[in-house]
Amino acid sequence: MIGNVLAIAKGGAGIVRDGERTVFVPGVVAGETVEYDDAGRLHSAWRGRLLRVLEPSRERVPPPCPHYGDCGGCNLQHMSIAEQQRSKAAILAENLRRIAGSAPPSPPLLASPAERFRSKAEFQVAGGAAGFFARESHRVVAVGGCLLLPRASEEHFLRLRPRTAALERGQWRVLSNGDIVASRLEGEDGRGEWLSRERTVPFAIGLHEWRVGPENFVQANLFQLAPMAALLTDVVERERPGSAADLFCGAGFFTLPLAARCGRVTALESDPANLASLRANLERNRIGHVRVLAADALRGAPLDAELVVVDPPRGGLSGRLVSALAGGRARTVVYFSCDSATFARDLRLFQARGFALEALKLIDNFPHSDHFEIFSVLKRIELRDA
Ligand SMILES: C[S@@+](CC[C@H](N)C(=O)[O-])C[C@H]1O[C@@H](n2cnc3c(N)ncnc32)[C@H](O)[C@@H]1O
Repeated sequence: MIGNVLAIAKGGAGIVRDGERTVFVPGVVAGETVEYDDAGRLHSAWRGRLLRVLEPSRERVPPPCPHYGDCGGCNLQHMSIAEQQRSKAAILAENLRRIAGSAPPSPPLLASPAERFRSKAEFQVAGGAAGFFARESHRVVAVGGCLLLPRASEEHFLRLRPRTAALERGQWRVLSNGDIVASRLEGEDGRGEWLSRERTVPFAIGLHEWRVGPENFVQANLFQLAPMAALLTDVVERERPGSAADLFCGAGFFTLPLAARCGRVTALESDPANLASLRANLERNRIGHVRVLAADALRGAPLDAELVVVDPPRGGLSGRLVSALAGGRARTVVYFSCDSATFARDLRLFQARGFALEALKLIDNFPHSDHFEIFSVLKRIELRDA
């Protein structure tokens, strides 16, 4: 079959129309004419397998990694960086238009260097191979390095790879700030060993030292940590809220800059390892005015805060949480999202409850893959206009 690639969909595949059917073909660039064959259905979507590019895009480039195509980690390496960014902006705009009802004209994009940016790697280990899962599979593709990783992490991986040989199946988490490495190997039974002297890695967040370990959540892109924190602190400095809350706060990446600017702060998180690191980070920085809640944010506990930061996993927020925020005192919600579809769904809920989208940015935290972060500021309309 022959078709034109209309756009790139979430997941990185190209959208090709075949009569009534929409077919998703990986490895293509928007605007190309391609030959593909039927690769069956995955869930409800028709899949195509690229056979030949008949009319290539000028934005098609040779993938920089020899494992590209087999390794499931990246899915846009065959596009120029500019084209990758255009594709992500189009995915965001389409989800906002389709799910939230409207999309603002192209939001600004915060770009990142395309290599050596990744703070944490999660290598998969199986039967003597260490690498990453193949696309849509649990087969482990052994890799000889990864250009997304800082040199310190890559060298650590290559040096200590022989230590994984005895492990039947497991996961190896390697975290680095570009200099110091903390790394832990764990089998499927949960038993593990440290492969580094350091167990935590320090990051400078404003004037604070923020420490996390391989077991903690950490934003994926080393170069975007300071810009992401600055996006939040700009809002806080402009608004000067008397009280703030950080929901889905992890080990406190946003809590520390909030606490430096706000007299009353609540930080809420459900994962015990992140809560332990959050408490250690508050203590390390001698911050005593943050109330820490170990709770499920999706249950929507009422919050007495004027500014609320939410940074959920891909599933986004719940209707209960949006209702609790809309029913509370929040004038401003700063929403960081890693999924444009659930973000668009939640935005629609906020808009129905009296909030308006004031600012939107696409943060390209994941060059060479279709993932990206969204920064947004939602303002309560009545209070803003009062
Ligand atoms: C995307 S991370 C953000 C962490 C933090 N804001 C940061 O930038 O480092 C999402 C966090 O939400 C936590 N989490 C997931 N589901 C949750 C829930 N239902 N209630 C509270 N926290 C949750 C995860 O453990 C994780 O730390």
